Amino acid sequence: MLIDKFNRTIDYIRVSVTSRCNFRCLYCMPNTPFEWEPKENILSYEEMFEFLRLAIDEGVKKIRITGGEPLLRKDLDKFINMLYSYKPTLDLALTTNGYYLPEYAKKLKKAGLKRVNISLDSLRKEVAAKIAQKDVLEKVLKGIDTALDEGLGVKLNTVVMKGINDNEIIDLFEYAKNKNVTIRFIEFMENERAYPGIKRVDSNEILEKISKKYKFTELPKDNSASKYFELEDGYKFGIIEPHSEDFCKSCNRIRLTAEGYLIPCLFFTESYNIKEAIRKGDIKKAAKILRDVVRNKPEKNDWQEDEISERAFWETGG
Ligand code: 5AD
Ligand code: SF4
Repeated sequence: MLIDKFNRTIDYIRVSVTSRCNFRCLYCMPNTPFEWEPKENILSYEEMFEFLRLAIDEGVKKIRITGGEPLLRKDLDKFINMLYSYKPTLDLALTTNGYYLPEYAKKLKKAGLKRVNISLDSLRKEVAAKIAQKDVLEKVLKGIDTALDEGLGVKLNTVVMKGINDNEIIDLFEYAKNKNVTIRFIEFMENERAYPGIKRVDSNEILEKISKKYKFTELPKDNSASKYFELEDGYKFGIIEPHSEDFCKSCNRIRLTAEGYLIPCLFFTESYNIKEAIRKGDIKKAAKILRDVVRNKPEKNDWQEDEISERAFWETGG
Protein backbone atom coordinates (compact mmCIF):
# COMPACT_ATOMS: atom_id res chain seq x y z
CA MET A 1 0.00 0.00 0.00
CA LEU A 2 1.17 3.50 -0.80
CA ILE A 3 0.24 5.79 2.08
CA ASP A 4 1.48 9.37 2.42
CA LYS A 5 2.43 11.41 5.47
CA PHE A 6 -1.12 12.70 5.81
CA ASN A 7 -2.58 9.22 5.86
CA ARG A 8 -3.95 9.43 2.33
CA THR A 9 -3.84 6.14 0.44
CA ILE A 10 -2.45 6.65 -3.04
CA ASP A 11 -4.20 4.16 -5.28
CA TYR A 12 -4.62 6.23 -8.43
CA ILE A 13 -2.06 7.16 -11.11
CA ARG A 14 -2.64 9.50 -14.00
CA VAL A 15 -0.35 8.73 -16.91
CA SER A 16 0.30 11.31 -19.60
CA VAL A 17 1.35 9.41 -22.73
CA THR A 18 2.10 12.52 -24.81
CA SER A 19 2.14 16.27 -24.27
CA ARG A 20 1.11 16.89 -27.89
CA CYS A 21 -2.40 17.95 -28.73
CA ASN A 22 -4.42 18.63 -31.88
CA PHE A 23 -6.45 21.34 -30.07
CA ARG A 24 -5.21 24.68 -28.74
CA CYS A 25 -7.72 25.35 -25.96
CA LEU A 26 -7.62 28.88 -24.60
CA TYR A 27 -7.35 27.64 -21.01
CA CYS A 28 -4.61 25.15 -21.74
CA MET A 29 -2.00 25.71 -24.44
CA PRO A 30 -3.29 28.42 -26.78
CA ASN A 31 0.12 29.47 -28.10
CA THR A 32 2.07 26.26 -28.13
CA PRO A 33 3.66 25.49 -31.49
CA PHE A 34 2.81 22.17 -33.09
CA GLU A 35 6.06 20.32 -32.68
CA TRP A 36 7.19 16.76 -32.06
CA GLU A 37 8.84 15.62 -28.90
CA PRO A 38 12.12 13.86 -29.59
CA LYS A 39 11.14 10.22 -29.38
CA GLU A 40 14.09 9.18 -27.23
CA ASN A 41 12.86 11.46 -24.43
CA ILE A 42 9.55 9.68 -24.24
CA LEU A 43 8.99 6.48 -22.30
CA SER A 44 7.94 3.61 -24.51
CA TYR A 45 4.76 1.72 -23.62
CA GLU A 46 6.92 -1.13 -22.37
CA GLU A 47 8.86 1.24 -20.09
CA MET A 48 5.68 2.78 -18.73
CA PHE A 49 4.22 -0.64 -18.20
CA GLU A 50 7.32 -1.79 -16.27
CA PHE A 51 6.78 1.06 -13.85
CA LEU A 52 3.00 0.81 -13.65
CA ARG A 53 3.18 -2.89 -12.92
CA LEU A 54 5.25 -1.99 -9.90
CA ALA A 55 2.67 0.59 -8.83
CA ILE A 56 -0.17 -1.90 -9.32
CA ASP A 57 1.69 -4.40 -7.16
CA GLU A 58 1.97 -1.64 -4.52
CA GLY A 59 -1.81 -1.23 -4.49
CA VAL A 60 -2.70 1.16 -7.32
CA LYS A 61 -6.25 0.35 -8.40
CA LYS A 62 -7.00 3.04 -10.92
CA ILE A 63 -5.04 4.28 -13.92
CA ARG A 64 -6.16 7.15 -16.08
CA ILE A 65 -4.45 7.81 -19.41
CA THR A 66 -4.15 11.51 -20.21
CA GLY A 67 -2.14 13.87 -22.40
CA GLY A 68 -1.95 16.35 -24.20
CA GLU A 69 -4.33 14.35 -26.29
CA PRO A 70 -3.61 10.67 -25.59
CA LEU A 71 -5.25 9.42 -28.79
CA LEU A 72 -2.48 11.13 -30.78
CA ARG A 73 -0.08 8.48 -29.55
CA LYS A 74 0.04 5.53 -31.89
CA ASP A 75 -1.41 2.18 -30.80
CA LEU A 76 -2.77 3.44 -27.50
CA ASP A 77 -5.14 0.48 -27.44
CA LYS A 78 -2.13 -1.84 -27.23
CA PHE A 79 -0.87 -0.04 -24.13
CA ILE A 80 -4.32 -0.22 -22.58
CA ASN A 81 -4.42 -3.90 -23.30
CA MET A 82 -1.03 -4.43 -21.62
CA LEU A 83 -2.45 -2.92 -18.42
CA TYR A 84 -5.76 -4.71 -18.75
CA SER A 85 -4.09 -8.08 -19.30
CA TYR A 86 -1.91 -7.58 -16.24
CA LYS A 87 -4.88 -6.78 -14.03
CA PRO A 88 -8.36 -7.01 -15.55
CA THR A 89 -9.97 -5.52 -12.42
CA LEU A 90 -7.98 -2.28 -12.78
CA ASP A 91 -10.19 0.78 -13.16
CA LEU A 92 -8.84 1.86 -16.56
CA ALA A 93 -9.93 5.25 -17.78
CA LEU A 94 -8.97 7.84 -20.39
CA THR A 95 -9.27 11.61 -20.60
CA THR A 96 -9.61 12.87 -24.16
CA ASN A 97 -10.80 15.82 -26.20
CA GLY A 98 -12.99 13.32 -28.06
CA TYR A 99 -11.88 14.23 -31.57
CA TYR A 100 -10.57 10.79 -32.49
CA LEU A 101 -13.15 8.78 -30.58
CA PRO A 102 -15.38 8.17 -33.62
CA GLU A 103 -12.67 5.95 -35.08
CA TYR A 104 -10.94 4.86 -31.85
CA ALA A 105 -13.68 4.06 -29.32
CA LYS A 106 -14.34 0.51 -30.48
CA LYS A 107 -10.68 -0.49 -30.33
CA LEU A 108 -10.27 1.08 -26.89
CA LYS A 109 -13.24 -0.75 -25.47
CA LYS A 110 -12.01 -4.00 -26.93
CA ALA A 111 -8.58 -3.44 -25.37
CA GLY A 112 -10.13 -3.24 -21.88
CA LEU A 113 -10.78 0.47 -21.38
CA LYS A 114 -13.71 1.03 -19.03
CA ARG A 115 -14.38 4.76 -18.99
CA VAL A 116 -13.69 8.01 -20.83
CA ASN A 117 -13.86 11.63 -19.72
CA ILE A 118 -14.48 13.87 -22.69
CA SER A 119 -14.00 17.64 -22.80
CA LEU A 120 -17.06 19.51 -23.98
CA ASP A 121 -16.90 23.26 -23.48
CA SER A 122 -19.63 24.43 -25.85
CA LEU A 123 -22.49 23.17 -27.97
CA ARG A 124 -22.13 26.01 -30.43
CA LYS A 125 -19.92 25.38 -33.42
CA GLU A 126 -18.36 28.85 -33.42
CA VAL A 127 -17.78 28.97 -29.68
CA ALA A 128 -16.26 25.48 -29.63
CA ALA A 129 -14.01 26.56 -32.51
CA LYS A 130 -13.01 29.70 -30.66
CA ILE A 131 -12.09 27.77 -27.50
CA ALA A 132 -10.18 24.92 -29.18
CA GLN A 133 -8.93 27.18 -32.00
CA LYS A 134 -10.14 24.54 -34.43
CA ASP A 135 -13.51 23.48 -35.80
CA VAL A 136 -14.11 20.53 -33.49
CA LEU A 137 -17.72 20.33 -32.35
CA GLU A 138 -19.12 17.87 -34.86
CA LYS A 139 -16.36 15.31 -34.30
CA VAL A 140 -16.49 15.66 -30.52
CA LEU A 141 -20.26 15.14 -30.41
CA LYS A 142 -19.89 12.13 -32.67
CA GLY A 143 -17.09 10.90 -30.39
CA ILE A 144 -19.37 11.12 -27.36
CA ASP A 145 -22.09 9.12 -29.13
CA THR A 146 -19.64 6.50 -30.36
CA ALA A 147 -18.20 6.01 -26.87
CA LEU A 148 -21.72 5.56 -25.47
CA ASP A 149 -22.67 3.16 -28.27
CA GLU A 150 -19.59 1.07 -27.53
CA GLY A 151 -20.63 0.78 -23.89
CA LEU A 152 -17.83 2.86 -22.40
CA GLY A 153 -18.64 4.79 -19.24
CA VAL A 154 -18.73 8.48 -20.21
CA LYS A 155 -18.32 11.69 -18.23
CA LEU A 156 -18.15 15.18 -19.71
CA ASN A 157 -15.82 17.96 -18.53
CA THR A 158 -16.57 21.64 -19.06
CA VAL A 159 -14.19 24.42 -18.12
CA VAL A 160 -16.39 27.44 -17.45
CA MET A 161 -15.03 30.78 -18.66
CA LYS A 162 -16.64 34.15 -18.08
CA GLY A 163 -18.08 35.70 -21.22
CA ILE A 164 -17.11 32.71 -23.36
CA ASN A 165 -19.27 29.73 -22.39
CA ASP A 166 -20.87 30.65 -19.06
CA ASN A 167 -24.14 31.37 -20.88
CA GLU A 168 -24.25 27.71 -21.94
CA ILE A 169 -24.21 26.08 -18.52
CA ILE A 170 -27.88 25.07 -18.71
CA ASP A 171 -27.63 23.96 -22.36
CA LEU A 172 -24.62 21.76 -21.59
CA PHE A 173 -26.27 20.46 -18.43
CA GLU A 174 -29.41 19.49 -20.35
CA TYR A 175 -27.45 17.95 -23.23
CA ALA A 176 -25.69 15.71 -20.68
CA LYS A 177 -28.85 15.02 -18.70
CA ASN A 178 -30.72 13.93 -21.84
CA LYS A 179 -28.01 11.38 -22.51
CA ASN A 180 -27.92 10.43 -18.82
CA VAL A 181 -24.22 11.23 -18.73
CA THR A 182 -22.57 12.98 -15.79
CA ILE A 183 -21.21 16.42 -16.61
CA ARG A 184 -18.68 18.18 -14.42
CA PHE A 185 -18.20 21.90 -14.50
CA ILE A 186 -14.62 22.86 -13.78
CA GLU A 187 -13.40 26.13 -12.37
CA PHE A 188 -10.70 27.48 -14.66
CA MET A 189 -7.28 27.16 -13.02
CA GLU A 190 -5.04 30.11 -13.71
CA ASN A 191 -1.75 29.09 -15.29
CA GLU A 192 1.02 30.80 -17.16
CA ARG A 193 0.32 29.23 -20.55
CA ALA A 194 -3.38 29.97 -20.66
CA TYR A 195 -4.79 32.84 -22.70
CA PRO A 196 -4.38 35.86 -20.43
CA GLY A 197 -7.92 37.21 -20.80
CA ILE A 198 -9.66 34.21 -19.27
CA LYS A 199 -11.67 34.71 -16.10
CA ARG A 200 -12.95 31.85 -14.05
CA VAL A 201 -16.49 31.40 -12.91
CA ASP A 202 -16.78 30.35 -9.27
CA SER A 203 -18.49 27.11 -8.40
CA ASN A 204 -21.22 28.86 -6.40
CA GLU A 205 -22.12 30.94 -9.45
CA ILE A 206 -22.37 27.78 -11.55
CA LEU A 207 -24.53 26.07 -8.95
CA GLU A 208 -26.74 29.11 -8.66
CA LYS A 209 -27.44 29.07 -12.40
CA ILE A 210 -28.43 25.42 -12.27
CA SER A 211 -30.50 25.89 -9.11
CA LYS A 212 -32.72 28.43 -10.87
CA LYS A 213 -34.09 25.60 -12.96
CA TYR A 214 -33.39 22.37 -11.05
CA LYS A 215 -33.53 21.24 -7.42
CA PHE A 216 -30.56 19.19 -6.24
CA THR A 217 -28.78 18.02 -3.12
CA GLU A 218 -25.07 17.55 -2.52
CA LEU A 219 -23.88 13.96 -2.20
CA PRO A 220 -21.32 12.88 0.41
CA LYS A 221 -17.82 13.56 -0.87
CA ASP A 222 -15.86 10.58 -2.19
CA ASN A 223 -12.14 10.70 -2.96
CA SER A 224 -12.54 11.99 -6.51
CA ALA A 225 -11.67 15.57 -7.34
CA SER A 226 -15.35 16.44 -7.81
CA LYS A 227 -18.24 17.33 -5.63
CA TYR A 228 -21.35 15.55 -6.85
CA PHE A 229 -24.96 16.64 -6.76
CA GLU A 230 -28.17 14.74 -7.39
CA LEU A 231 -31.46 15.93 -8.86
CA GLU A 232 -34.75 14.61 -7.59
CA ASP A 233 -34.97 12.30 -10.60
CA GLY A 234 -31.61 10.73 -9.72
CA TYR A 235 -29.48 12.49 -12.36
CA LYS A 236 -25.99 13.30 -11.04
CA PHE A 237 -23.65 16.11 -12.03
CA GLY A 238 -20.42 17.46 -10.59
CA ILE A 239 -18.33 20.51 -9.87
CA ILE A 240 -14.56 20.61 -9.69
CA GLU A 241 -13.36 23.47 -7.58
CA PRO A 242 -9.59 23.40 -7.26
CA HIS A 243 -9.69 26.75 -5.48
CA SER A 244 -11.65 25.41 -2.53
CA GLU A 245 -10.10 24.91 0.88
CA ASP A 246 -10.53 21.17 1.22
CA PHE A 247 -9.75 20.17 -2.39
CA CYS A 248 -6.57 18.33 -1.41
CA LYS A 249 -7.81 16.49 1.68
CA SER A 250 -9.00 13.44 -0.17
CA CYS A 251 -6.35 13.43 -2.90
CA ASN A 252 -5.44 9.86 -3.78
CA ARG A 253 -3.32 10.37 -6.88
CA ILE A 254 0.12 10.91 -8.33
CA ARG A 255 1.07 11.55 -11.96
CA LEU A 256 3.54 10.13 -14.45
CA THR A 257 4.49 12.19 -17.50
CA ALA A 258 5.50 10.91 -20.92
CA GLU A 259 9.09 11.95 -20.16
CA GLY A 260 9.17 9.82 -17.03
CA TYR A 261 8.59 12.45 -14.35
CA LEU A 262 6.63 11.28 -11.33
CA ILE A 263 4.72 14.21 -9.93
CA PRO A 264 3.20 14.14 -6.46
CA CYS A 265 0.90 17.13 -6.97
CA LEU A 266 -0.27 19.12 -9.98
CA PHE A 267 0.46 22.44 -8.35
CA PHE A 268 3.73 21.62 -6.77
CA THR A 269 6.94 22.08 -8.68
CA GLU A 270 8.76 19.10 -7.27
CA SER A 271 9.13 16.05 -9.47
CA TYR A 272 11.28 12.92 -9.77
CA ASN A 273 12.38 11.08 -12.88
CA ILE A 274 12.06 7.31 -13.17
CA LYS A 275 13.30 7.04 -16.76
CA GLU A 276 16.89 6.27 -15.95
CA ALA A 277 16.04 3.63 -13.37
CA ILE A 278 13.58 1.94 -15.71
CA ARG A 279 15.94 2.07 -18.71
CA LYS A 280 18.70 0.52 -16.61
CA GLY A 281 16.29 -2.17 -15.45
CA ASP A 282 16.81 -0.99 -11.86
CA ILE A 283 13.36 -1.85 -10.55
CA LYS A 284 14.45 -1.41 -6.91
CA LYS A 285 15.44 2.18 -7.63
CA ALA A 286 12.18 2.82 -9.45
CA ALA A 287 10.27 1.42 -6.47
CA LYS A 288 12.24 3.67 -4.13
CA ILE A 289 11.43 6.73 -6.24
CA LEU A 290 7.76 5.76 -6.18
CA ARG A 291 7.78 5.48 -2.40
CA ASP A 292 9.69 8.79 -2.06
CA VAL A 293 7.18 10.58 -4.25
CA VAL A 294 4.31 9.29 -2.14
CA ARG A 295 6.12 10.16 1.07
CA ASN A 296 6.82 13.70 -0.16
CA LYS A 297 3.37 14.39 -1.46
CA PRO A 298 2.50 17.84 -0.15
CA GLU A 299 -0.51 18.30 2.10
CA LYS A 300 -2.01 20.96 -0.13
CA ASN A 301 -1.47 22.27 -3.60
CA ASP A 302 0.79 25.26 -3.95
CA TRP A 303 -1.81 27.27 -5.78
CA GLN A 304 -2.18 30.84 -4.60
CA GLU A 305 -4.44 33.62 -5.74
CA ASP A 306 -1.61 35.90 -6.79
CA GLU A 307 0.79 33.26 -8.02
CA ILE A 308 0.13 31.73 -11.38
CA SER A 309 1.23 28.14 -11.86
CA GLU A 310 4.16 27.64 -14.18
CA ARG A 311 3.51 24.03 -14.88
CA ALA A 312 1.33 23.47 -17.90
CA PHE A 313 -1.61 21.10 -17.62
CA TRP A 314 -0.79 19.37 -20.84
CA GLU A 315 2.56 18.23 -19.46
CA THR A 316 1.02 16.67 -16.41
CA GLY A 317 -2.26 15.47 -17.77
CA GLY A 318 -4.83 17.82 -16.31
N1 5AD B 1 -8.29 24.92 -15.81
C1 5AD B 1 -9.17 23.93 -15.55
N2 5AD B 1 -9.18 22.77 -16.21
C2 5AD B 1 -8.29 22.60 -17.17
N3 5AD B 1 -8.06 21.57 -18.00
C3 5AD B 1 -7.03 21.88 -18.80
N4 5AD B 1 -6.58 23.11 -18.53
C4 5AD B 1 -7.35 23.59 -17.51
C5 5AD B 1 -7.37 24.79 -16.78
N5 5AD B 1 -6.51 25.77 -17.00
C6 5AD B 1 -8.83 20.34 -17.95
C7 5AD B 1 -10.01 20.41 -18.89
C8 5AD B 1 -9.68 19.54 -20.01
C9 5AD B 1 -8.83 18.52 -19.30
C10 5AD B 1 -7.92 17.77 -20.20
O1 5AD B 1 -8.06 19.26 -18.37
O2 5AD B 1 -11.11 19.81 -18.28
O3 5AD B 1 -10.84 19.01 -20.53
FE1 SF4 C 1 -5.57 19.73 -25.86
FE2 SF4 C 1 -6.98 19.06 -23.72
FE3 SF4 C 1 -5.23 21.09 -23.63
FE4 SF4 C 1 -7.46 21.35 -25.03
S1 SF4 C 1 -7.31 21.05 -22.81
S2 SF4 C 1 -5.40 21.93 -25.72
S3 SF4 C 1 -7.76 19.33 -25.81
S4 SF4 C 1 -4.75 18.96 -23.92
